[in-house]
Amino acid sequence: MSDAIHYYEPSNGHGLPHDPFNAIVGPRPIGWISSQDAQGRLNLAPYSFFNAFNYIPPIVGFASVGRKDSLNNIEQTGEFAWNLATRPLAEAMNQSSAAAPAEINEFELAGLTPAASRIIQVPRVEESPVSFECKVTQIIQLQRADQELVPTWLVLGEVVAVHIAKWLLKDGVYDTAAAEPILRGGGPADYFQLGPEALFKMFRPR
Ligand SMILES: Cc1cc2nc3c(=O)[nH]c(=O)nc-3n(C[C@H](O)[C@H](O)[C@H](O)COP(=O)(O)O)c2cc1C
Repeated sequence: MSDAIHYYEPSNGHGLPHDPFNAIVGPRPIGWISSQDAQGRLNLAPYSFFNAFNYIPPIVGFASVGRKDSLNNIEQTGEFAWNLATRPLAEAMNQSSAAAPAEINEFELAGLTPAASRIIQVPRVEESPVSFECKVTQIIQLQRADQELVPTWLVLGEVVAVHIAKWLLKDGVYDTAAAEPILRGGGPADYFQLGPEALFKMFRPR
């Protein structure tokens, strides 16, 4: 084995001061998920095990590592909203990750305003320039290679409505960088902020 490579098998530990996994698979977009329980109690929390998985219909998903309030709520109602976490909203996003009891509304905790959705009952974050209204399609409990179940659930939802602040549409084209999205890196505190300097273009081979 090469001395130039740090090799490890995760089941035996990584042998480093910090687990590099999150820093390698990163930076990751953030699923800033609003949900509510059957009684209408609101919840908001960030999930960086988040991504888009399909175009038509658009499907997004996030993983709840452990059974969290968002998962419990979404199981009850079948709905959630995704909100874009931007640089101006970074501190509020972070506050909404506080381990608060189910009856605590993280919108209030983080000083954010719930805005009514059009199709689902769950409100969006008014301060966020982009939101998706989502209806759950699947909730999949993850498992190891030997099929032993792990206490992590992948929540997938179809995007049934999209809200975009018009200032992010330049001649009708969505300007990713202008929104200043924030992305999660590794370690306890690393984030990345996206701006125009991060952009390069490359077309697919014909
Ligand atoms: C940027 C960021 C990303 C996070 N990503 C995840 C994640 O992917 N999965 C997860 O289970 N928790 C994640 N967390 C922790 C949850 O946000 C935290 O446990 C929160 O309290 C869950 O809220 P809930 O119980 O109201 O759903 C993340 C926290 C932060 C700040």
